[in-house]
Amino acid sequence: MSTTYRRVPIRSVIPELSLPVDVYVHLSEKYLKYLNKGDVLTADKYNKFMTMKVKHFHVVEEDIDTFISWVEREKEKVLEKDAQKVAGKMLPIVEANQEIREMIFDTFTSEDLTEDNVLNIQHQADKLIEKLQEDQRVAHAMVKLARYSGSLADHSVNVANMAVFLGLTFGHSHPLVLQNLYLGGLYHDYGKTKMDAKFWEQKNPNHHYSHAEQSHPDQGALLVKKSKKFPDQVVTIIAQHHELYSGAGYPRGLKGKEIYELSRIVSLANAYDNSCQEKRDLPERERLEKTLKILEYDRGKSFDPELANKAHLALSAMFAEIK
Ligand SMILES: [Fe+2]
Ligand SMILES: [Fe+2]
Repeated sequence: MSTTYRRVPIRSVIPELSLPVDVYVHLSEKYLKYLNKGDVLTADKYNKFMTMKVKHFHVVEEDIDTFISWVEREKEKVLEKDAQKVAGKMLPIVEANQEIREMIFDTFTSEDLTEDNVLNIQHQADKLIEKLQEDQRVAHAMVKLARYSGSLADHSVNVANMAVFLGLTFGHSHPLVLQNLYLGGLYHDYGKTKMDAKFWEQKNPNHHYSHAEQSHPDQGALLVKKSKKFPDQVVTIIAQHHELYSGAGYPRGLKGKEIYELSRIVSLANAYDNSCQEKRDLPERERLEKTLKILEYDRGKSFDPELANKAHLALSAMFAEIK
């Protein structure tokens, strides 16, 4: 008797958890066992699926109920944890943020930027910015909802949220500017989704000397521009997010105010998130203190000193309540 397999979307699976059943991938008309029950779906594997454009796992028919209820339970747990990080009034933001995470994973696993996908994300972004304009505490909630799983989808959402928070801190309140910061944050590493899956097997995939790493800003900008669905400002943010204030960044070595202001903001948000991710095993307070020290130390080197100072003040104040 042949085995029946059922398809399940990877986007709703939380990375870094042990799987409740064996999972298979469907490649070249065959079902291949990819991970055993109890194996961890690491963020690297998650990222690899993304670059391989694999959107679904398969599980054997008898396991489907176990798998789906596990996915729902784990998602529920994460959402509950998220909800504890913010005030009760902000619960709709927790939901919206989760929706964006799933949409972004979908976008990153698609061959192209489809009209539907981009419009859905832009629509979600509009709704968030609208809420933000009614109540600026929404920006605090967005920052507090950061997740450090190591998946590119989580990183991208974290950076988008932080970029909007920093934008507001630096006095940008126009919805179009906030929208550009948000989209620039979401897509800043889009170029990485087109890399060879081996990229994620490197010991440190963010090592800035590697060719793949150096080329992802231009590659991402090119694809986003080609889709004709984004404003030029977003394309520039993506192209310049690894330029450094000192001129030591890449790919062009732009310096100081030659770097577009919104790129300087996303670059700061990106560095902040990378540092928090690296230190994710530390207690929250220590992680934040160490990350803020980097902002302090690197101002004028990697970061615009004025922006880094303001970011330092705003983030210290926001996290002051964490014991
Ligand atoms: Fe990047
Ligand atoms: Fe990044």
